[in-house]
Amino acid sequence: MGENTGESQKMWGGRFAARPGDIMEAINASIDVDRRMAEEDVAGSRAHADMLVEMEIISEEDHEAIQAGLDAVLGEIRDGSFPYNRSLEDIHMNIEARLKELAGPAAGRLHTARSRNDQVVTDFRLWTRGAIDEADNAITDLLKALATRAAEHSGTIMPGFTHLQTAQPVTLGHHLLAYCEMLNRDRRRLSAAAIHLNECPLGAAALAGTGFPIDRDMTSEALGFDRPMANSLDAVSARDFALETLAALSISATHLSRLAEEVVLWTSAQFGFASLSDAWSTGSSIMPQKRNPDAAELIRGKAALITANFTALQGAVKALPLAYAKDLQDDKQLTFAAFDTFDLCVRSMTGMIETITFHPDAMREAASKGFSTATDLADFLVRELDLPFREAHHVTGALVAKAENEGCDLSELSLEVLQAAEPRLTEAVFEVLTVEKSAASRTSYGGTAPERVSEQAAQWKQRLGLEA
Ligand code: ARG
Repeated sequence: MGENTGESQKMWGGRFAARPGDIMEAINASIDVDRRMAEEDVAGSRAHADMLVEMEIISEEDHEAIQAGLDAVLGEIRDGSFPYNRSLEDIHMNIEARLKELAGPAAGRLHTARSRNDQVVTDFRLWTRGAIDEADNAITDLLKALATRAAEHSGTIMPGFTHLQTAQPVTLGHHLLAYCEMLNRDRRRLSAAAIHLNECPLGAAALAGTGFPIDRDMTSEALGFDRPMANSLDAVSARDFALETLAALSISATHLSRLAEEVVLWTSAQFGFASLSDAWSTGSSIMPQKRNPDAAELIRGKAALITANFTALQGAVKALPLAYAKDLQDDKQLTFAAFDTFDLCVRSMTGMIETITFHPDAMREAASKGFSTATDLADFLVRELDLPFREAHHVTGALVAKAENEGCDLSELSLEVLQAAEPRLTEAVFEVLTVEKSAASRTSYGGTAPERVSEQAAQWKQRLGLEA
């Protein structure tokens, strides 16, 4: 592959006297990328040929030769023997050229009422539809891992943070289920993109439609699209389906990156909340004590690459006049890369979450630091002593300062000290000052109380087809 035989000229070179130079061919060829759409291209050609014969645009004989040839081409693609040739530019011309070798002159009739402009974007929509399905499966596996671990840890106390400062005790299960919510919205965004992209550009031809009596409903239906696209200019030039898909992937990668960052923090010696399994840790060549969370860091970094794929395509489409222009050829490279990166990231995260060991004692201890039950004390003053919340906030603040001075937790202050700040306080207040009581009290819908979290975890497991 790659030898400059000028073969693409056989396809379009009727009016050319000289073949393209090597560098022209190098910048022009997309076969190394778009060969991934080989099967989609064959499917599109099959549907097109079936329609052409049905509409009596080609003969039965030619149709049979074309379909038999496409069978052979598909066989070669699948067994790896297909002779990809860079001088044939792209997958469409590669397949058509091979079809001609296998099926003879009938192959030349396949491109009737079709252009590479509608062909390429038909293939690309089909490919993206399949890739969204795979991404959805991969995210679902991660959801299963998260829901399973969340159910195990519905009562495990950890510090909840705002500003990365200890805020209030939460449960680990609650924290993990937050990612289930995010990632499930990502699935919905992706499936919305799959619905929006599911219209068929085939038959738009180069840009203006065709004078042949084609049946666009027939090809659309054969390829599993919901309907043919209504405007031929739009059909060949629209790439918002890819942008929408990449935007959804980019958002999901952003979610993975946030979780990855938490894994990095949690597995540090300073946090000590969790340890990655050996399979998901790497060592240092100089520091023998190190267990590095490389996969988590890579997910964090690669999320930016996926966002870059999105912005690069948006840049290519922005200010591009209708209809097709060759700038659009790189849409596939960007989209394939985004899906490949995303798949690696989701699967790595799933592996890490499935095998990570959490350290509930360290989490509980961290949750008890930083006066995480101060809000509970303030709420107690409001509820039991009818203080206005602002005043309760003030009294609690004074007690926090006191505890800070004495180097102890709020629950370790003596009743005398508490009563010095608010004389009506009684022993009962100690009931709300432990982290367990604090978390258990947050029973509002969506709250962190273990009973709520185990309900939610059970619901997730059920929705995901796991045994609750
Ligand atoms: N390889 C091209 C692409 O991926 C196919 C369409 C080419 N069309 C054209 N008029 N040159 O966009």
